[in-house]
Amino acid sequence: MTFALGTTDEIKARLNIVELIGSYVRLEKAGTHWKACCPFHQERSPSFMVNDEKSMWHCFGCGKGGDIFAFVMEIEGLEFREALTMLAERAGVELPQYRNEPGNNKETKDRLYQILELSTKFFEKQLWDGPGKGKILEYLKGRGLNEESIKRFRLGYAPDGWQHLLDFLVSKGYRKDEAESVGLALKKEGGHDHYDRFRDRIMFPVFDILGRPVGYSARVAPGGDETQAKYINTPESALYHKSRVLYGLSLAKQGMKQAKMTIVVEGNMDVIALHQVGLENTVAVSGTALTEEQLSLMKRYGNEVRLFFDMDGAGQKAARKSAELALEKEFLVSMVALPFGKDAADMGKEDPEALKTAIAASVPAPKYFLEASLKANDQSTAEGKRKIVEEYTEFLLFIKNPIERSFWIKELSREIAMEEKLLVGIVNGAFVDRARKDGRPVPVSNQPRAPFPMVNSYSNRAERLREEFIALCCADGDTRTVLLKEIQADETRAFLEKHPLFFFILQAGDGDAISLIEDPALKSEAARLSFRILESPEFANLEHDEQSEKMQEIGKQYLGDLEKEVLTREKLVSLERDINQARTAGDKNKEHELLQKFAEISSGRLHSS
Ligand code: CTP
Ligand code: MN
Repeated sequence: MTFALGTTDEIKARLNIVELIGSYVRLEKAGTHWKACCPFHQERSPSFMVNDEKSMWHCFGCGKGGDIFAFVMEIEGLEFREALTMLAERAGVELPQYRNEPGNNKETKDRLYQILELSTKFFEKQLWDGPGKGKILEYLKGRGLNEESIKRFRLGYAPDGWQHLLDFLVSKGYRKDEAESVGLALKKEGGHDHYDRFRDRIMFPVFDILGRPVGYSARVAPGGDETQAKYINTPESALYHKSRVLYGLSLAKQGMKQAKMTIVVEGNMDVIALHQVGLENTVAVSGTALTEEQLSLMKRYGNEVRLFFDMDGAGQKAARKSAELALEKEFLVSMVALPFGKDAADMGKEDPEALKTAIAASVPAPKYFLEASLKANDQSTAEGKRKIVEEYTEFLLFIKNPIERSFWIKELSREIAMEEKLLVGIVNGAFVDRARKDGRPVPVSNQPRAPFPMVNSYSNRAERLREEFIALCCADGDTRTVLLKEIQADETRAFLEKHPLFFFILQAGDGDAISLIEDPALKSEAARLSFRILESPEFANLEHDEQSEKMQEIGKQYLGDLEKEVLTREKLVSLERDINQARTAGDKNKEHELLQKFAEISSGRLHSS
């Protein structure tokens, strides 16, 4: 914990927030702050603010905010750890290694990343200045890729031979077994020696979300036998996890975020072709269906997918499986249809406009698969109808929303001229069966109500005062130090502790509280509260010391008022207990007397709020 704290602070100290955010959005100086139109929601006049001194940002429009980590998490769609890695690299700060993770040793891993980066450079050089220069480069251009795309995706060539890459890596100080562990080399059978895995192949590096090469998809060179292992892929390794990788993600994520939509294609070639015509929100699954992990990655960027798979049997099977899983994850799913026998790459080459039109004209998945079922079966026979219903019922089970489901049942009923009620029965029956099979939980009945719930919450006033107090503590370290010492009653402290930010305020000392928070929503809240203070006319135009003093003065007043509120509430709570006791004992007079008192105090509380 203290480890991580030191590191994040060091990264923050080395990176200027205005420079960092300025590399994504155009910031303009406005008084003591910097302003821009918020990159996270649509707006015309700027409500996105950056405070250089406090190294914080906040948008008054959409409420998001935080520090540099929160910013790159949001704009790049990264997890905290990933943002940490990215900014550490940018700042030149070494991250402490995560212990207790066997095979995850930082030094070892770093060397593996270096090997993959070096190999990628090696393959690129073979393509541009080596044996790949003629035939391979021409082939790629012949497939419609331009030089810019080939460079952007860092395509390369692995020359024919058994040792080219290995010799190169060894000359750079790496071991053959390291090359083997990232899937670049194989061990000779029975022997100890190694040889290159990829020989005479077009190399498509696969990047992780941060753009580091972690593996390869290697296509047979032109003239080679495409029916035998057209592609050879890196096996799973410490860096490469097939189910977590999406080809093209690091280059597509900005586009995915902007469009709030991802186009998913089957092949590497297809991704590059689509990016080249300006559809940069495109990624590929590599010849399989989408996995849950891949869908979770995509969810970071938006809620819509368009599936653009080959029209052959394998492609359509993968398309259906992907659509089902995506619907289950509550994506808006639609399907792009292509002329049979063509893939997206061919189309991008022949007619880029038609490609864009095809994607714009995608069909909602439930409609697409209904039509597919209708086409595949003969609905003039009872047998055919039964098959259609069966197939489509299976599909409808993946649609979570009952309204949507019933809409498509109606469509089915119309198409095959079968009574809707009957179909509803069939689908619902299948639904219950499925739920039972999956062992889904049954809703719990409501809890009985408490006997005397008069004091079930703090007054709004107490909550408001607490929030102001917390806000002041977030906004300024010196103010925080002074104010925390002023807390008198344990009850007040207990009430403050119930606020989720209080823990971090205590931890921070006079340092940066936001640094300690990993949760983006809580970070946003801390930034929102800080900015409310820093932007308020009472404080905005003061010099730092004066500002701090003023904050302390006001904070003390708030705290005093808060203590009064809290103590009053404590009195009410104990009265409530006594009232319940008197009631159980049957002491009517006592009960009446206590109720009177309760009313007095609580109305006093009301009047003072
Ligand atoms: N694939 C694979 N192994 C194979 C065939 C395909 O891993 N033997 C994966 C590759 O990632 C490939 C994707 O499935 O990109 C789609 O396959 P395919 O459509 O056959 O290849 P394309 O990428 O379209 O290649 P090309 O257009 O050059 O034939
Ligand atoms: Mn293809």
